[in-house]
Amino acid sequence: MNHSRLKVGLICGGTSGEHQVSLISAYHIQKALDRSRFDVQMIGINLEGSWFLGESEGFLEHHDDVRKVSFSSSHPVNIPERRPLESTEKKSNSLDEIDVFFPITHGRFGEDGALQGLLEMAGKPYVGSNVYGSAICMDKDVCKRLLVLQGIPVVPYRVFRSGDHVRHEELIQELGPTFFVKPSREGSSLGVSKARTANEFEEALKIAFGIDRKILVEKATQGREIECSVLGNDKPVAAEVLGEIVPKHEFYSYEAKYVDDEGAKLVIPAQIEEDTARRIRETAVDAFRCTECRGMARVDFFLEDDGSFFINEINTLPGFTSISMYPKLWEASGLPYSKLLERLIELALET
Ligand SMILES: Nc1ncnc2c1ncn2[C@@H]1O[C@H](COP(=O)(O)OP(=O)(O)O)[C@@H](O)[C@H]1O
Ligand SMILES: [Mg+2]
Repeated sequence: MNHSRLKVGLICGGTSGEHQVSLISAYHIQKALDRSRFDVQMIGINLEGSWFLGESEGFLEHHDDVRKVSFSSSHPVNIPERRPLESTEKKSNSLDEIDVFFPITHGRFGEDGALQGLLEMAGKPYVGSNVYGSAICMDKDVCKRLLVLQGIPVVPYRVFRSGDHVRHEELIQELGPTFFVKPSREGSSLGVSKARTANEFEEALKIAFGIDRKILVEKATQGREIECSVLGNDKPVAAEVLGEIVPKHEFYSYEAKYVDDEGAKLVIPAQIEEDTARRIRETAVDAFRCTECRGMARVDFFLEDDGSFFINEINTLPGFTSISMYPKLWEASGLPYSKLLERLIELALET
């Protein structure tokens, strides 16, 4: 990377249920970006999908409480577009000057390839996975199907679409008595429930179908939740250190993630036998490749007592607060937060 200052367009917010979480990730990223190397332009997308420019300081209100955060700018801006070569019309779209975009927009339209496609069409480089990888990993069902083809184990599950007949008894025969029910394309545990009884199952279906027309019913595993950070383009590498999530709630719910300060313990490094840890890291890189990821992804596993493991999901835009697992694992592996950001921007600019 050359040493003239690059203008980074940090895109945050968005229309998904993870709007607030995204703003908090963005808050930490802008704070850590080295200003001697980068100019930072905050770009907030509000819940209705309109784009706004923000000052990098003070763009966020209440960054310490995920339930109250909001983007505090009111300067609307056009979405990025490729300027026709022969256009004589001079447009004043301040996004034209952005050298590289850094979308830190979790969830639908931000992490699923839609925003990535927009930036692609505008001819702008951006951090993270491209359209394919983003779309594949956003859809838990499609992602699992590719992993299975690659020989990577996933928890036994069934897919249902809106209007399908769901037979509870049949599922108990197939998957056991306790299920996790989740929307196929969501994040931050929104719409995820654990169901043990027929009533809980019914309620869980309602909640998940309230978010997505396609849902997954999974066998509930007792496995430990192990996370692995992967970084790179054509030659991705897994961070040396793995992390473990130990939720204090029944599972790693939205409350445990963001609302309750003591909701979960992040154990870094995860205490795992060396050979198992190596296999997890190799599998994470294999999964990153087979699902067309680029730049970064956090690959989440369930590890059973006998040393076998499943991939739960792959996050192409993982949480990026200063205490989030993805950057923490790199930090523990020798790559500090602000250096990680620089590396991601470098990877975005690689052709
Ligand atoms: N099959 C499962 N068995 C046990 N726990 C699960 C299972 N699926 C999900 N969970 C729990 O629910 C949490 C959220 O589910 P996940 O599939 O990771 O959705 P999200 O994309 O919203 O993070 C997980 O971190 C884990 O605690
Ligand atoms: Mg998850």
